[in-house]
Amino acid sequence: MRKKLAKLDDLPEGTTKRFSFKRDGIRVDAFVANYRGEIVAFENLCRHQPLTLDYGDGEFFSSDGSLFVCQTHGAMYHPKTGLCIEGPCTGASLHPLNIEITDGEIHLVDLLSE
Ligand code: FES
Repeated sequence: MRKKLAKLDDLPEGTTKRFSFKRDGIRVDAFVANYRGEIVAFENLCRHQPLTLDYGDGEFFSSDGSLFVCQTHGAMYHPKTGLCIEGPCTGASLHPLNIEITDGEIHLVDLLSE
Protein backbone atom coordinates (compact mmCIF):
# COMPACT_ATOMS: atom_id res chain seq x y z
CA MET A 1 0.00 0.00 0.00
CA ARG A 2 1.30 3.42 -0.93
CA LYS A 3 -0.36 6.64 0.18
CA LYS A 4 0.66 10.25 -0.30
CA LEU A 5 0.96 12.00 3.07
CA ALA A 6 2.28 15.48 2.40
CA LYS A 7 4.59 17.59 0.34
CA LEU A 8 7.99 17.90 1.91
CA ASP A 9 7.72 21.70 1.71
CA ASP A 10 4.51 21.57 3.75
CA LEU A 11 6.20 19.77 6.64
CA PRO A 12 8.92 22.12 7.88
CA GLU A 13 11.26 21.21 10.70
CA GLY A 14 9.49 20.78 14.03
CA THR A 15 6.04 20.14 12.54
CA THR A 16 3.86 17.05 12.38
CA LYS A 17 0.84 15.90 10.44
CA ARG A 18 -1.76 13.34 11.43
CA PHE A 19 -3.12 10.81 8.97
CA SER A 20 -4.85 7.47 9.01
CA PHE A 21 -4.89 4.41 6.82
CA LYS A 22 -6.51 1.01 6.79
CA ARG A 23 -4.77 -2.21 7.67
CA ASP A 24 -6.82 -5.38 7.34
CA GLY A 25 -9.92 -3.19 7.23
CA ILE A 26 -9.08 -1.50 10.53
CA ARG A 27 -8.33 2.22 10.71
CA VAL A 28 -4.86 3.01 12.01
CA ASP A 29 -4.12 6.51 13.35
CA ALA A 30 -0.65 7.71 12.57
CA PHE A 31 1.51 10.78 12.20
CA VAL A 32 4.45 11.97 10.20
CA ALA A 33 6.97 14.43 11.62
CA ASN A 34 9.95 16.48 10.60
CA TYR A 35 12.47 15.97 13.37
CA ARG A 36 15.47 18.19 12.75
CA GLY A 37 15.22 17.67 9.01
CA GLU A 38 14.58 13.95 9.18
CA ILE A 39 11.12 12.69 8.20
CA VAL A 40 9.75 9.97 10.49
CA ALA A 41 6.34 8.31 10.79
CA PHE A 42 4.78 6.25 13.56
CA GLU A 43 1.45 4.84 14.54
CA ASN A 44 -0.27 7.35 16.80
CA LEU A 45 -0.59 4.91 19.65
CA CYS A 46 1.00 5.27 23.07
CA ARG A 47 2.69 2.12 24.35
CA HIS A 48 1.36 2.65 27.87
CA GLN A 49 -2.35 2.54 27.13
CA PRO A 50 -4.18 2.29 23.80
CA LEU A 51 -4.61 6.04 23.38
CA THR A 52 -3.35 8.47 20.78
CA LEU A 53 -0.25 10.42 21.79
CA ASP A 54 -1.68 13.82 20.91
CA TYR A 55 -5.17 13.12 22.22
CA GLY A 56 -6.53 14.53 18.97
CA ASP A 57 -5.04 18.00 18.90
CA GLY A 58 -2.05 17.34 16.64
CA GLU A 59 0.57 18.25 19.26
CA PHE A 60 3.31 15.65 19.40
CA PHE A 61 6.56 17.48 20.09
CA SER A 62 7.74 18.59 23.51
CA SER A 63 8.05 22.37 23.85
CA ASP A 64 11.74 22.29 22.92
CA GLY A 65 11.09 19.97 19.94
CA SER A 66 13.45 17.29 21.15
CA LEU A 67 10.97 14.52 22.01
CA PHE A 68 7.46 13.28 21.33
CA VAL A 69 5.26 13.46 24.41
CA CYS A 70 2.12 11.49 25.19
CA GLN A 71 -0.42 13.95 26.49
CA THR A 72 -2.15 11.49 28.79
CA HIS A 73 0.58 10.50 31.25
CA GLY A 74 3.63 12.20 29.83
CA ALA A 75 5.57 9.30 28.28
CA MET A 76 8.47 10.69 26.25
CA TYR A 77 9.65 9.08 23.04
CA HIS A 78 12.74 9.73 20.99
CA PRO A 79 11.55 10.99 17.59
CA LYS A 80 14.18 9.14 15.60
CA THR A 81 13.80 5.69 17.10
CA GLY A 82 10.35 5.85 18.74
CA LEU A 83 11.86 4.48 21.94
CA CYS A 84 10.17 5.57 25.15
CA ILE A 85 12.95 7.03 27.26
CA GLU A 86 10.89 8.32 30.18
CA GLY A 87 7.45 7.57 31.59
CA PRO A 88 5.26 4.57 32.36
CA CYS A 89 6.27 2.61 29.25
CA THR A 90 10.03 3.24 29.33
CA GLY A 91 11.79 0.76 27.06
CA ALA A 92 8.82 0.19 24.74
CA SER A 93 8.79 1.71 21.26
CA LEU A 94 6.23 3.37 19.05
CA HIS A 95 5.39 1.34 15.97
CA PRO A 96 7.38 2.82 13.09
CA LEU A 97 5.97 3.16 9.57
CA ASN A 98 7.88 3.02 6.32
CA ILE A 99 7.96 6.16 4.31
CA GLU A 100 9.50 7.12 0.99
CA ILE A 101 10.25 10.58 -0.29
CA THR A 102 9.94 10.95 -4.04
CA ASP A 103 9.91 14.18 -6.03
CA GLY A 104 9.38 16.25 -2.89
CA GLU A 105 6.41 14.19 -1.72
CA ILE A 106 6.22 11.99 1.36
CA HIS A 107 4.51 8.63 0.88
CA LEU A 108 3.52 5.97 3.35
CA VAL A 109 4.60 2.52 2.22
CA ASP A 110 2.96 0.10 4.60
CA LEU A 111 4.06 -3.38 3.72
CA LEU A 112 1.77 -4.97 6.32
CA SER A 113 -1.37 -3.67 4.63
CA GLU A 114 -0.65 -5.22 1.22
S1 FES B 1 -1.39 6.68 27.73
FE1 FES B 1 0.50 7.55 27.07
S2 FES B 1 1.66 7.73 28.87
FE2 FES B 1 -0.18 6.82 29.53
